[in-house]
This record gives sequence, C-alpha cells and structure tokens, in this order.
Amino acid sequence: MNKIENISQDDLSEPLTFPVEAYISREYAEAEGEKLWAKVWQHAGRVEEIPETGNYITYDIGNDSILIVRTGPESIRAYHNVCPHRGRKLVDTPPGCNGAQGKTPVFVCGFHAWSFGLDGKARNIPDKEDWSGALTPERTCLTEVKAETWGGWIWINMDPGCEPLRDYLEPAATLLDNFEFANMRYRFRQWVVFDCNWKVALEAFMEPYHVAGTHPQLVKYGDFYAWSAAQGLHGNDGYDTRGKQVGSAANVTVHRTGAGNDARVMMAEMQKEFWETVGASTTQRNNPPAQRLVDELPEGTPASEVHHHWLESAKADYAALGITWPEISEEQMAKAGLAWHIFPNMGILQGPTFALCYRTRPYGTDPDKCIYEAYAIERFPEGCEPVTEWVHAEPDEKNWRKVIAQDFSNMAAVQKGLKSRGFRGNLPNPHQERKVTNLHRNLARYMGSGAPKPLS
Ligand code: FES
Ligand SMILES: [Fe+2]
Repeated sequence: MNKIENISQDDLSEPLTFPVEAYISREYAEAEGEKLWAKVWQHAGRVEEIPETGNYITYDIGNDSILIVRTGPESIRAYHNVCPHRGRKLVDTPPGCNGAQGKTPVFVCGFHAWSFGLDGKARNIPDKEDWSGALTPERTCLTEVKAETWGGWIWINMDPGCEPLRDYLEPAATLLDNFEFANMRYRFRQWVVFDCNWKVALEAFMEPYHVAGTHPQLVKYGDFYAWSAAQGLHGNDGYDTRGKQVGSAANVTVHRTGAGNDARVMMAEMQKEFWETVGASTTQRNNPPAQRLVDELPEGTPASEVHHHWLESAKADYAALGITWPEISEEQMAKAGLAWHIFPNMGILQGPTFALCYRTRPYGTDPDKCIYEAYAIERFPEGCEPVTEWVHAEPDEKNWRKVIAQDFSNMAAVQKGLKSRGFRGNLPNPHQERKVTNLHRNLARYMGSGAPKPLS
C-alpha cells in the first residue's frame, strides 16, 4: 500500500472508541514491521548531523537498520544497513541507542572485508574471481532506501514505490513551511527507554487535555482547553477559546498571557515557569522581554496588547543578535496551532524560533517497550550553534525538568492499565483528543485492524 485510499472526510467529532490491541499485542507489534514501518516516511535525523561528504548516521526501526550518508554537498542517500555478502550489519549500532555516526570515504564490512563506496557500489571484494563472474554490480551493491529532506529533517522510506515525501506530509508541510525549521539547529537531544508501547509514549504529548490532571501547577496560567484536528494522516491542536470572543490572536497563537488580573505579571511568571520547568516550548531569549513587561507597559494593559508587546520585544532582542524571525501571519499561526503529530511517530511543538520535537520507536518488536527521544531545535546566531549529541537521560526531574518528568510518570501506568481485564477500550475526548483518534484511524488503515468505532 503506497497511499492510503479513501481518507474519510469524517472530522472525528462523534464519540468513538478503539481497542487496545495496537498497544499490547505482540502479533500486532511484529506485524508493524511489515505493514507500517516498511511503508511510511519516517524522520531519521537532521541534515545538520551529516554536514560533510562521507558523514553518516544510522537509524534503527524494529528489525531494520538504515544507513544514511552524505554523498555530496547537495546529496544524501540511504541504504539498508546490511552487507550483501552474508548479511552482517554493515555499520554496528549499539543496542537501544540513537545509532552510529561518523565519517568515512568507504564502508568496510567487519566479517570478510567487502567494501562499499558512498554511492553504495561494491569497491573491493576479496577473491571475487571465485564467483566466476556471478557477482554483478546489482548483486553486490547496497540496497537503496528512499531519502528526502523537509524542514531540515532527513526522512527515509523503505517502500520503493512510495509517494514523494511532500505529498505524504501534506497538509502539514504547507501549514508549517513558514516556521522555517530548516534554519533551526539542535539545542539538546535526549533519549530513554520506557516500559510502554511507542504509541503510549507518543500520545502522552498529543493533547493539552491532560494538563489539569498531570501538570496541575500550570492551571493558574489559564484554560488549556484545546481544539484537535485530523489533518489527513497527521493532526494538530491549538488553544480553544470555548466559543468566547477574544478580540485578538493572543489566545490562539503560541503563547497565552495567563488568567490572573495583571496580564503583565502573569506573562512574566508564565514565561519564567515554562522556561524553568519545561526547558523547551519557549526559549531562554523569550524570557527577559517577558520580565520587562511591568516596566514597559502601564498597569491595566489588556492581555492581547501585553502579548503583542512581548512578541515584538522578543523579536527585537533576536534581531539584535542577528536572528530574523520568519514571516508568519497571525492567521498562519492560528492554523498551524500549537503542536503537530506527524504520522506515525513524530511530535512537533512549534514556535517562530524554536520547536520541541519527540520521536518514539518500538524497542525491537516488544509491544511493552519503546525508545523515546526528545529534542529542541532553535534559531541561533550564525556560528553560535551548540555542539550536541544524543544523551541517554534517566527519566527524572533532574534530567528532563519538572513538566516532562510529570508526563513520564504516566507511561508505564498506562501500559499496565491497558492490559487490565476491566478496561473496556479507549474513550478519547471527541473535541480535544482527535489527534489520538486520527492516529488510530490511520494505523488501522495500514494494519488492517483496530479502527475507531462509534460509541453508541
Ligand atoms: S558478511 Fe560482509 S563481507 Fe561477509
Ligand atoms: Fe504534558
């Protein structure tokens, strides 16, 4: 299946339920390798990770391993990471981690020393004449995997007949192009293994409906009521004003000003707390302009003006550092919302100068384990990009700060609960959790089972 046919126009607004099979069944997890991961575009890294010809990274998914190589200034290619001789993994990748990386002009297999150029063609085969001419270039080259880029990410697809990346990503690509993610660079990247299915870890970040229950300390900053929408294979969400007129884009763009009486103070407190307890989904540079609001604006300034002033100040602070904000209209901001799910396993919480991203992957074919990765990308002044690498970080508050650690506390508990004899199936919120339902609707199309059904 190259393309999902008959995507329903149904907006998922009716109460639906879906079964637990996708989270807990070993057979389902094993079938994902063939029916899902071998068919979809997956983001396998950032372009910045392979800046020079010969730089490579690996990306492991289930039983498959992909080798991604920069073959020239403008070209990136990907191959199955397996030696065509007797099947040794060509580049070793440590178990559970984010893969190997390095730079080489030639890949040499550690078993019998067959070697391969960056173009995937066999270079040297010891005693090749023993095969009496049967070792044709087609038999000895690495098996190519589709690789394309969008947003500064490298995406791979193992299906030779797959649709182009851009078609797969729409409408997300068009709604997010203006954020210019390609101009952002890693600020940090961390990973950990959880005792839950990859969908449980992913869905923990797919809706703000959980804020009051999981992050009660944030409720003082206002109402986290959200709209949630299916966008073809993908989905997004954003702040919802519960039908109230807000008179400004302040409540539908990236940040809110908070619920207190003095919007200046609430904005300052919220920015400080978000920076200190999330460490992402805003930036260090967005905080000082928020702290200046009480000095720069008179008491009683309406929330929408406070928000606007803060954005302009932040923009000016960035400009002073030589960083230009991308042109994103209020309408585009509102349409993009707060956060995206890119099918099947990626999350993006975007802002004009930053994005907090997640990726979850199965751990082999164990339905009860996954690799969880989170990273922040940000705009930096030219030459000031930090040097980062993947860091294994235990899931505590010290490594991940308070808010994300709170999210982590649900992971294993959800996985256990989904196996309970007393659990009747998910009851996703028909307004605020459509992204989750849409994920399962699209999973069912690839997997052939588990489609959401009406509750009544
Ligand atoms: S398996 Fe790679 S050279 Fe033999
Ligand atoms: Fe959360």
